[in-house]
Amino acid sequence: MPNLVIAGTQWGDEGKGKIVDLLAQETDIVVRFQGGNNAGHTMVVNNEQFIFHLIPSGILQNKKCVIGNGLVIDPGVLLSEIDTLKSKGIILNTDNFFISEKAHVIMPYHKTIDLGREKLKGKEKIGTTGRGIGPCYEDKASRKGIRIIDLIDPDVFSTILPEIIEEKNFYIKNWLKLDPIDIEEIKNQYLEYGKQLAPFVVNVSTLLQKYINENKNVLFEGAQGTHLDIDHGTYPFVTSSNTVSGNASCGSGIGPKDIGSVMGIVKAYTTRVGKGPFPTELLDETGDKIQKKGAEFGATTGRKRRCGWLDIVLLKNAKLLNSLESIAITKLDVLSELDKIKICTAYELDNKIINHFPASLKQLSKCKPVYETFDGWSEDISHIRNYNDLPNNTKLYLNRIEQLLEIPINIVSVGPGRDETIIIKNPFVLTKNI
Ligand code: GDP
Ligand code: IMO
Ligand code: MG
Repeated sequence: MPNLVIAGTQWGDEGKGKIVDLLAQETDIVVRFQGGNNAGHTMVVNNEQFIFHLIPSGILQNKKCVIGNGLVIDPGVLLSEIDTLKSKGIILNTDNFFISEKAHVIMPYHKTIDLGREKLKGKEKIGTTGRGIGPCYEDKASRKGIRIIDLIDPDVFSTILPEIIEEKNFYIKNWLKLDPIDIEEIKNQYLEYGKQLAPFVVNVSTLLQKYINENKNVLFEGAQGTHLDIDHGTYPFVTSSNTVSGNASCGSGIGPKDIGSVMGIVKAYTTRVGKGPFPTELLDETGDKIQKKGAEFGATTGRKRRCGWLDIVLLKNAKLLNSLESIAITKLDVLSELDKIKICTAYELDNKIINHFPASLKQLSKCKPVYETFDGWSEDISHIRNYNDLPNNTKLYLNRIEQLLEIPINIVSVGPGRDETIIIKNPFVLTKNI
């Protein structure tokens, strides 16, 4: 089965965009299956940085790119990404870009509600990206959502909008104490968005099935990370979609047997943006050093990312939830020059050692990491392209991760650039130069 799902294993920002861009050269199609423009996926190609929030990271390799039904789409953001790409000579057309008719539309009231609720919560806020993601998924579940197919049909859109706006404005005015939405203003703007997006709208299930039947390689690009999953993450400090690999099936409209294998992306340490428990967080100089060296700022909101040591308990949970068959370790270069490096192998909870990731946030916030300590390496490793050329201490660190997780490391990333990569075993068997 040539298909592959790329899944974030921690709390997002593991470097999924870089790995998808790299592997996209061996695939025919790249599919996003969940989330929205809360995602920020970064690629660096020929020293130029690209950040995509909605368009799949395969576009720089000129692959067919698909937005599945599991996404929530802000049409304004999508159209501006299309324009930015155009200004760089990458043209999206009806042959290389497809949007599911069943994806949901993020409306202005979703953003107003997201931001308004966070403000109301004050210190208790989730720390969302403020992009309207939660309220849009909420409307999908409560059957008050607007799908892309509804947006591109002016009759349907104009019929359903007034009733929805009436209810939203009641909530916005009376609960959030904010200014109501002007229906005429957004109606015309969104009808125009619909007109511009209409040519790209297709039935993604039949499209993907056709390529799968032709034995083409499909790469599924996960957004966020396993521990931001609405069911399995650190609820309520999570996003509003299923981020685990299984959703590649539901979120793109193909059967579970067609999703192929799963590669987990693991940052060589751990980061988190927004609020919520983080057992291995470093609130000291080492944490600051990693944050600065790793340039750990959110690709969507620019917020500083919280940093901590690698957490094997978290990663074993990701292995279980995603059926990880291989992993890519990213940002290993960031750990160079640290005197000592730690790996959390278990938690201590109420004087007992535990090896599982607790669902109770009360328990999780009491968990103390049990660490193994490793000698660091002083060498800059970003120019290394062969595993054997890595410093001995770097290899000891990687070997221990493989041993603890019992999953092979197939890719090691040593810099943001596409070429700054050590390929141990490529899932698509790379044959060309990268
Ligand atoms: P994503 O959301 O998982 O795609 O990750 P982000 O793009 O939000 O964050 C990863 C950041 O690390 C980006 O700025 C990447 O350019 C950068 N990056 C990716 N891999 C590496 C690496 O191996 N080393 C370094 N130094 N930076 C990397
Ligand atoms: P990528 O795909 C890191 C976090 C937010 C917040 C929580 C809920 O780039 O890895 P939301 O706006 O989704 O309702 O926010 O989820 N979050 C991310 N953190 N990377 C992301 O995406 C994220 N998308 C959402 O910071 O804590
Ligand atoms: Mg990101």
